[in-house]
Amino acid sequence: MVKPSIIAIDGPAASGKSTLGERLAQRIGYLFFDTGILYRAVTWAALQKLGRVDQEYEVSTLSEKVNIDVRPPSVADGRSADVCIDGVDVTWEIRNSDVDANVSQVSAYPRVRQAMTLQQRRIGQRGGVVMVGRDIGTVVFPEAGLKIYLVASVEERASRRYHEMINRGVAADYNQILAALRKRDEYDSGRKLAPLKPAEDAIVLDSEGLTIEQVVERALALIEKA
Ligand code: DC
Repeated sequence: MVKPSIIAIDGPAASGKSTLGERLAQRIGYLFFDTGILYRAVTWAALQKLGRVDQEYEVSTLSEKVNIDVRPPSVADGRSADVCIDGVDVTWEIRNSDVDANVSQVSAYPRVRQAMTLQQRRIGQRGGVVMVGRDIGTVVFPEAGLKIYLVASVEERASRRYHEMINRGVAADYNQILAALRKRDEYDSGRKLAPLKPAEDAIVLDSEGLTIEQVVERALALIEKA
């Protein structure tokens, strides 16, 4: 079987893209890269250094300079990668609710997108990669050999995020998560530049009511057909 060199997985927040991407990459021996990490890292750095994210020029300049390093995991605490910013391990910090609340705004800045897109192309052009995000099939790698657009209802996504947090021992409120997801969906889909939407040639995979194993099997079948 000749596998597509680049597999793009896009979809809304908490649709299970990262879990699917990670397992798929493992099964076919590809590199897994979650591009949301880059936007989260810039947001975290902006909150640290500027205390806010509404200064577009400063945040953009920071995104062009900041040193984001994504490496294989060195700690077995559920992480899929180590994320370091200027040498400091921020793997879990970039998942906190402050970053969640501000990352959509940061990822709408054109210069930030340009800087992150360049990094993603550099990583992906070697091939053998499953890349996960919002605009991989539409903007970063429109030539990807397989594009999956993963969806699930906002209620199911909120419920998955809620259980994932509880399992990590983090306090969580379902209604708050639901409201935050709705807001991010709106922001990510409504932005002018590289909005969240399926590429014309993407295959929409609905994970509602499916287990992760079932979603992986369906994606493997798509790889075989691609
Ligand atoms: O997948 P995630 O929730 O970790 O992504 C965080 C944010 O980053 C998301 O709200 C939108 C943005 N993002 C993006 O604009 N483009 C990507 N390719 C990946 C993420």
